[in-house]
Parts: sequence; structure tokens; C-alpha cells
Amino acid sequence: MSEDLSPSGPGASYPFTPADFERVRKLIYARAGIKLNDSKQNMVYSRISRRIRVLSLSSFGQYLDHLEAAGGQEWQEFVNALTSNLTAFYREQHHFPMLADLLRQGSKTPAIWCAAASTGEEPYSIAMTAADALGAGGKPRILATDIDTNVLATARRGVYPLEAVKPVPPEQLRRHFLKGSGANAGFVRARPQLAALIEFRQLNLLEADWKVGGPFDAILCRNVLIYFDKPTQKGILERMARVLRPGGLLFIGHSENLTDRRDLFRLRGKTAYERVADVKAAA
Ligand SMILES: C[S@@+](CC[C@H](N)C(=O)[O-])C[C@H]1O[C@@H](n2cnc3c(N)ncnc32)[C@H](O)[C@@H]1O
Repeated sequence: MSEDLSPSGPGASYPFTPADFERVRKLIYARAGIKLNDSKQNMVYSRISRRIRVLSLSSFGQYLDHLEAAGGQEWQEFVNALTSNLTAFYREQHHFPMLADLLRQGSKTPAIWCAAASTGEEPYSIAMTAADALGAGGKPRILATDIDTNVLATARRGVYPLEAVKPVPPEQLRRHFLKGSGANAGFVRARPQLAALIEFRQLNLLEADWKVGGPFDAILCRNVLIYFDKPTQKGILERMARVLRPGGLLFIGHSENLTDRRDLFRLRGKTAYERVADVKAAA
């Protein structure tokens, strides 16, 4: 009899075998490039259990058969269930003064790509930084993408609890957000002028053809490369180098590095890189 990985207890109602876990691992890797290690078994159990419940199925095996046979919208639900979306306003704060300096020195209409936008805290932080650095007459274009359609819906709403906007300086918060009252007390909403700077769009970084336009003056691809293996990272970084203008900046997450892609990017600060002048030979 095969081992059952489902946690014991009242909520653990669906059989979950090592073969099921392996199947989930293969499917999410093929779809989104996400590598799940052994420590993610409980996470997979609890998140996929919700889908099994919603669909009134009775086991992981049945769910995975349904997913592979019916596909369609359930693929998106599967991906949404397995992404990790932790983010914050001005996360890794040191990147933002660098971004502001870059924008002050460049055109009034820079293009910036936030490539793992999650629930929006990062693209709104970029938008505030850009609007304030460029001042009146500035018109930044910010493309904010993510594979997960649920987080993008939250990002588009632009509504956050006061607790979440604590890292935003009060003066900047007043300039760019509206404070809720009545039923909306305790929440802020991005002002329309700020929201208008950002285009939210679903994009899977694994896809070969991104259709993102460019060239970008800056790309923020933070805390997502860590979920990918080396060959996947390599392909993404090569394609990013092609849509970043020479001298443009690429920002990555605190536990990521580009040490083996120095042919494409030169270190400019802590986890901040400049695109080298000629990337054709490398890409
Ligand atoms: C941990 S969050 C990082 C959010 C933000 N960049 C930050 O640093 O705060 C990682 C995000 O990457 C997204 N993601 C994972 N795989 C992806 C893929 N293949 N293509 C695009 N986005 C992906 C997830 O949906 C998630 O919102």
C-alpha cells in the first residue's frame, strides 16, 4: 500500500501519496518553472485541497486527472494555488533611491517593468518613486506583470490596509493614496493618477515570447528567480537583457545573484545590475 502524505487531523480528508506530490511537482514546473522541494508537501496539500473541495472531488489523484483531462481555467487555478506571493511596499528599500536617480537622469517618459508584481505593493512603490522623481511633466510607463491572476486582481483594485502602507512615508502616502472612511476606514486606495501610470497584465516568465515592448529603462524582477532552476533563470535573464536598454538597471531579490551572468549585467549596487552595452554575443 502506498504511503499517505496527507497530514492527520480533522481537516485531512483527501488521500495524498508521494506519487501525487511528484505529479504536482512536475506539472507546476512545466507550467510555471516553479521548483517545489520536499519541504512543500504540506503547502501543496493545503492549497490543492481547497481546489478538490471546490470541485467536489475526493482525492488528489482524481483532481490531477481532472486537471490534465479538462485543463482550461483549472490550470490557472492550479498555478494561482501554488505561487508564493509575499511582498511589501518598499521591500528592499535600498533599490528605490537608485531607481529615482536613474529616472532623474533620463527621459521624462521612462519605461519600467515590474516582472513579478504580486498584489501590487511593488509596482505602486515604483509608481510613487517615478512620479516624485520626474515631477510635473513626467509620464512614466510602468508595466506590472505576474503569472497569478488572483494577485493581479488585488493589485488592480489598489486597496490596502493601513498596516500594509506603514513603510510609505506619510507625506508620500497623502500625495498618492486616498484614505478610506466609513465602511472603508482602515484602508487606503491608490489615487487614480497613480493607478493610471501602471498597466497590469498577466505574463508567464517561462514563455518564450513576452510581447512586453521595451526597451525598458529599469526592470524589477525581485524574489521570483529563486523559484526557478539555473537553466530557467539563464533563459529569463538573457531575454531580460534584450528588452533592457544598455545602461538600464535590473533589480533582483536579496537572496538572488547574477554572478554567472556578468556577460550580460554588471554589478552597480546591492542586488542591482546594469545591462552591458552589447549582449548579442551572449544571448
Ligand atoms: C514572492 S513574490 C515576489 C513579489 C515582489 N516581486 C517582491 O519582491 O516583493 C513572487 C511572485 O512571482 C510570481 N511568479 C511565480 N512564477 C512566475 C512565473 N513563471 N511568471 C511570472 N510570475 C511568476 C508569483 O505569482 C508571485 O506573485
